[in-house]
Amino acid sequence: MKILVVHGPNLNLLGQREPAVYGTTTLAEIDGALLKRSEELGVELSILQSNSEGAIIDFLHREAPSAQGIVINPGALTHYGLSLRDALAALAVPFVEVHLSNIYAREKWRHRSLTAPLARGQISGLGWRGYIMALEFLAEGRHDGK
Ligand code: DQA
Repeated sequence: MKILVVHGPNLNLLGQREPAVYGTTTLAEIDGALLKRSEELGVELSILQSNSEGAIIDFLHREAPSAQGIVINPGALTHYGLSLRDALAALAVPFVEVHLSNIYAREKWRHRSLTAPLARGQISGLGWRGYIMALEFLAEGRHDGK
């Protein structure tokens, strides 16, 4: 089983970026925790961070056809990334949307997610642990939620 992990714009700055909002855990630490958990679960991970919507879409086009699930934090693309939204719709691979912060407790423009209606589910506000929970859910390989 292969699961994709996608981190969108500015998430490479985690650890130093608005630590009061996003915490002090770095992206490398999150990826390390995901890789450790994936080994325990016997799942292969393919991870991308990009600040470019096009690069994320190219990665999804290339990798998603051979993947069984996607963990994605689209960053601000969540709120305006129509091309990313269309790519996720076209690929039809189950995905879980993750946000470190609780986007519903922040500015109003962050409350709208273009991608969440297509997602199997959304985890928002649980910090880096949200990524691990999303991975565990997708690794179960059951997407009916029961
Ligand atoms: C974020 C929330 C987004 O609104 C923001 O643009 C991000 C990070 C989060 O993980 O909480 O870049 O996706």
